[in-house]
Amino acid sequence: MNSIVILTGAGISAESGVPTFRASDGLWCGHRVEDVATPEGFEANPALVQDFYNERRRQLREVAPNAAHRALARLGVEWPGDVLVVTQNVDDLHDRAHAEVPETEGFGLIHMHGELLKARCTETGQVCDWRDDIRPDTVSPFSDDATLRPHIVWFGEMPLAMHVIERALAKCSLFVSIGTSGNVYPAAGFVSAARRAGAHTVELNLEPSLGQSLFEERHYGPATEIVPAFVERLLSR
Ligand code: OAD
Repeated sequence: MNSIVILTGAGISAESGVPTFRASDGLWCGHRVEDVATPEGFEANPALVQDFYNERRRQLREVAPNAAHRALARLGVEWPGDVLVVTQNVDDLHDRAHAEVPETEGFGLIHMHGELLKARCTETGQVCDWRDDIRPDTVSPFSDDATLRPHIVWFGEMPLAMHVIERALAKCSLFVSIGTSGNVYPAAGFVSAARRAGAHTVELNLEPSLGQSLFEERHYGPATEIVPAFVERLLSR
């Protein structure tokens, strides 16, 4: 078994204290998705949208990677083949867990829905690191005439690096989905692409997801328990 693709969702960060999307205390609480997570919402009320993501960006200072993020970082170092982690999460918890281990050539991390700690020029589309609040009048470092928007993929926009993800799915031998409800495409379709490639498919989640029947192996429980246990089994094979 050589090449592994791992898809993660909000469930992997839940025990770090980052709320999931569809729980009752979810991220969209108090806000309609259309207002804070669409290009139309941003056009209608940029201040509201910037504040929504400013709050989430500040929240990252209060949280830390958990045992599940660290187990995947360990897998990236110890697995003899390629490991690509594709996360739907916009937090930086995978990044921080991977920063704690030695760099490995065969490891990759893609934030397919963007990153809270990056900002994008509204004029040129260029992206830069950004840790502070963004105001509607914050001037873009790339153009004096432009402002910044969060580097987040909103509904109706194309997820990032899809060609890299599709290539990895087409040649993977193991596909693992962790902490995602399977509500949002194209991520929810990755399991089918991996199956077409002949990969073994595994779901690790608190509860069965919408696409549960597409996974050959399933383990349910908190990510901080079932992810390290799964990685341990994989590495000791
Ligand atoms: P969801 O909130 O839809 O689903 C989170 C999943 O994690 C659920 O299936 C929970 O059962 C599971 N879960 C919760 N706590 C867990 C724990 N401690 N251990 C393991 N699993 C746990 O989040 P996503 O599937 O990530 O998109 O949502 C996908 C996309 O929908 C997001 O990236 C976002 C949202 O709209 C954009 O913003 C474009």
